[in-house]
This record gives sequence, C-alpha cells and structure tokens, in this order.
Amino acid sequence: MNPLIPLDLHARSALRQSAPKLMFFGDPHGDLKPVIAAVERFRPEAIVLLGDIQARQPLHVELSPILDLTEVRWIPGNHDTDSDGDFDRLFGSELADRNLHGRVVEISGYKVAGLGGIFRSKIWDPRQPIKEAASASADALHRSMRREERWRDGIARRHRSTICPDEYQQLLRSPPADILVTHEAPAAHPHGCQAIDELTEALGVQLVVHGHHHQNIAEGTLTAAAPFRAFGVDMGSHLAWPRDETGLGGPPQDLLDLAAQVFGAEARVWLDKPHEWLDGQTPAAFATGGGSEKVRSMLNAI
Ligand SMILES: [Fe+2]
Repeated sequence: MNPLIPLDLHARSALRQSAPKLMFFGDPHGDLKPVIAAVERFRPEAIVLLGDIQARQPLHVELSPILDLTEVRWIPGNHDTDSDGDFDRLFGSELADRNLHGRVVEISGYKVAGLGGIFRSKIWDPRQPIKEAASASADALHRSMRREERWRDGIARRHRSTICPDEYQQLLRSPPADILVTHEAPAAHPHGCQAIDELTEALGVQLVVHGHHHQNIAEGTLTAAAPFRAFGVDMGSHLAWPRDETGLGGPPQDLLDLAAQVFGAEARVWLDKPHEWLDGQTPAAFATGGGSEKVRSMLNAI
C-alpha cells in the first residue's frame, strides 16, 4: 500500500524550529544506532521503541549515550521473546520499568497507552469474541500448560509477548489517553486488527503508532474525518510528534480537507478567524504552530 502522505520524516523533523516532544521508533531488531543518532540530532523530550528491540547488550547499555538526553519508553514485540537473550536484555535491563504495555503513562504532556506483543490464537484470536479465547489470562494459560511447556516456572517464553484478554480488557477500561502505541497494527493496515481500533476508540485517543510491519505508512483507509490517525513506523525510521505536516508553514492538508468537509466553502473563513478556544489565535495559525491535533478535535466535535 502506498502512503497517502509522503513520509520523509527525517527531513520534516529537521525543519522544526523546536525539538519534538515525542519520537516513535520502528522495530530496531538489534540496531539501535539510528535511535541514538536521531535523539542526538533532534533532542526529543521522550522516545518510545515500538517493539522487536532485540538489543545486543542490555538495553540500558545500548542506549547509554542518550539516557541523559531523553526519557526512554518501550513496548515489547513478538521477537523480544525469541530467545533467552532477547528476553533478558530487555525485560532484565535497567530500563525494564519503562515498559508501557498494559498501562497509560503521562509522557511529555501526553497520556500514552501501550499495548505490546501480538495476538496469538493459542491464547486469543481477536477475530473471535473475547469470551471464546482459549485462555483468559497468563495465569489461566500457566495452569493449562504441561511442566515441559513452561519457562522459568511460568508460561512459555514465547507467550510473554502474547496479548492476553485480561490485559487487553484492563487497558480498554483505562482512563482516556491521547496516544496509543502498539506492536500490532489497526484495521486500516492490510494485516491489522479491528481489536486495536476498538481499543483506540474506547480510550478516545487521537493517534495510534505501531511497529511490526516494517513500513512507514499513514494508514490508507482512514479518512480525514476518522476519529483517530494511525501511523506505522519502519525499522530504522521514526515519527516525530507533534508532526510538522507540511514543512511549508501552513496547516496540514488533511486538516484543510477536514475543514472543507465541515464548513464547505466557508472553511477558509473559519480557519482564518481568531477563536477564543485557541487563545485568540486563528485555527490556521494554531495548527501551523504545532496545535493541529486540537484544531482537528474541534472540527471533529463540530
Ligand atoms: Fe513484530
């Protein structure tokens, strides 16, 4: 699938006058040099690794050049449980408590929800009702496993990166969030899952960022009026947030399209009229200055 929006993310980030709040990094698969280089260049307040990290040394050792520069967060991917080493260098590192899986954490002013891992039908195929899942929880799976199937007296290592129904439901009932980071993709992706969309809408988030599929992609089937935006981030690449949509000093094109849907021929009038909800700025200026998400929310509400 071709992205609807060209994603020369590095070049666009370089145009920003100020450091991005957040940067999301696609599956490193052991190569953390692009992460370190991007943090040293753009100095984001915080970063999120989107899974399949597979650090070759403990994660805090790999990322030691940037630990004083930014706040590091991560979610696990399916490959982070491929071997004992993959598991230990991540879950056993000094950054183990930065795991966002199954919780909502405030990071640089955004409430960020995390759902790491992947769906595996041995536990739950999300195309089936959750009450028909083979195991409702890791505990239930543990009880059903033969001794030789277990790992370190718990569930099999592979399933340490499997999404369990109870974890999903707990996140579903969490307070509202601004951003959801996942390893699995939402349904707009050809290999995405409707369950991610349902979680997104339950949390009320406006942005989903995922890894796993090694593509830089603004999900093709989402319309400008969709309740959230979704981005896949490629291996070795990143997405900076808030996003400089145009690099040309104007509101992003999809925001202009959304305004046109809402106001028709009067869209430009609305965009150029100072608004009390935007500290007296015009929606166009507010969006250009990094506030496009708030303007988008207003248009969606209207
Ligand atoms: Fe993956």
